[in-house]
Amino acid sequence: MNPSTKIIVFSNHKGGCGKTSSIVNLAGELGRLGYKILVVDLDAQANASLHIGKLHPSEVKTTAADLLLSKENLLSQAIHEDTYFENVHLIYGDLSLNAAEDKLKDIAPRPNEELEYKLRPLQGLYDVILIDTPPSLRGLTFNALAAATHLVIPIESGSQYGMYGVADLLAIVHRFQETINPKLNVLGVLLIRHDNRLTVCKLIEAIAAQQVGKLLPLRISTSTKVNQAAMLHKTVYGLDPASRVGREFKDLAHYIAEELGLEGKNDGK
Ligand SMILES: Nc1ncnc2c1ncn2[C@@H]1O[C@H](COP(=O)(O)OP(=O)(O)O)[C@@H](O)[C@H]1O
Ligand SMILES: [Mg+2]
Repeated sequence: MNPSTKIIVFSNHKGGCGKTSSIVNLAGELGRLGYKILVVDLDAQANASLHIGKLHPSEVKTTAADLLLSKENLLSQAIHEDTYFENVHLIYGDLSLNAAEDKLKDIAPRPNEELEYKLRPLQGLYDVILIDTPPSLRGLTFNALAAATHLVIPIESGSQYGMYGVADLLAIVHRFQETINPKLNVLGVLLIRHDNRLTVCKLIEAIAAQQVGKLLPLRISTSTKVNQAAMLHKTVYGLDPASRVGREFKDLAHYIAEELGLEGKNDGK
């Protein structure tokens, strides 16, 4: 067990850029390597929960929204240990997260720091906590940024609009680093649906490198296996270990483990 739990948030308020797919596959591959992982789903669309969890989000008694809004800490009720992924626990998202975002402002003394406060007792119990965020730059994303030790910015590299909003996200991140979360470390941009042969991808890559300054040295290519794996509650690697995207997500897990200085586990082979 890692003595200091790392908290990684994947954020980019542009919808459909690959946040959830990356979080889920990274969680699954880190779990396969033997690390103890918790996924916190802060998106009302609950896509990560639908992929990893065995329950339908609407049936879950204690969700991320309940955890955020409760006076007493409901962590032990909110954490679901039985998921489709080995070593991966889950705090479910559900539709009530939308309302929770607004209610938090009225009830929490520090509305952006409620998640950080509620997750504090987990220090040392997990190797990595992964937080999936909604497609908006508001309270739920702020709670994730306040709790995180590391940030990954997924960017859809095949889209001419891939960089839209990244400057706003970076401005907010700098604000958090200067005020409530100096430990927040930007790991870099993860280019999703990348194809090195396409000019648009090369352009986005160059602009992302210039604007953010850091690109992860890995790229995720496009494959329909990403959708298939989600429907079958598997990682892409678990679905097809020979697939290119499967190997890319597995390599991402190894890279993150090394970069974050996680203790060595089995190599997953
Ligand atoms: N590398 C990829 N190749 C093909 N489809 C992908 C890839 N990554 C994501 N997708 C698909 O694109 C859609 C949006 O991805 P998702 O991870 O849900 O984005 P976000 O969480 O940022 O909204 C989903 O249907 C997902 O399955
Ligand atoms: Mg998502």
